[in-house]
Amino acid sequence: MKTSNLVAYPAATICLILAVSADSGPFDTLLKPFNIFRPQAPLHTMSPAEDQVSAGIIISDVIGKTQNIAIFSGLTRDIDPVSDRLDDASQNATVLAPDNTVMRGLKRKPWEDAKDYENYGEKAYNGDDGEDRAHWNLRRFVESHIIPESPWEEGKKVKTLAGREIWYESKDGKKRIQPGDVEVISIADKVSNGEVWVIGGSLAE
Ligand SMILES: *[C@@H]1O[C@H](CO)[C@@H](O)[C@H](O)[C@H]1NC(C)=O
Repeated sequence: MKTSNLVAYPAATICLILAVSADSGPFDTLLKPFNIFRPQAPLHTMSPAEDQVSAGIIISDVIGKTQNIAIFSGLTRDIDPVSDRLDDASQNATVLAPDNTVMRGLKRKPWEDAKDYENYGEKAYNGDDGEDRAHWNLRRFVESHIIPESPWEEGKKVKTLAGREIWYESKDGKKRIQPGDVEVISIADKVSNGEVWVIGGSLAE
């Protein structure tokens, strides 16, 4: 673990991080400085089973706490059908959240569509109609990254909320989402209504 990550945190926090490092996998170690801010069950009450899935905690509780997907998780809150779903304990989902680097490097903003510029020109996003178009595009972008089921098994073809069929394969210990060969960087959360995966690309068409 890089100590530079810890400088900003108080000493008690650092002790906690070190205390919980023992049982962590490779991704847990990377994310540890952020994990501690999640409202997980206190460590001393955790049974081995709860170590896998945090009981009673749902995606909407945790998605905002992972710093490297902050841009995408912010967008999920802007789309009501998506935020409602992630906040519904009875509906499972797998969130495939592009990390911030991916979001910053997108060719177009997630609310833009080349077709809109062809049809409406430079002012495609002006006025009420423009705002509707932007919102629709943003919704489609976010929904391209959400699968309405969890657990999601390797090789199983599923449709995203945007309707596109995807699956994943594991190679050399890394999951890769197909089509597009998008790398799964880590699994940030496993909670009672699903999982949040951090991915190294965009799944929007
Ligand atoms: C929802 O996710 C939880 C946690 O992974 C799992 O135990 C449960 O079986 C899932 N429910 C459905 C309907 O897939």
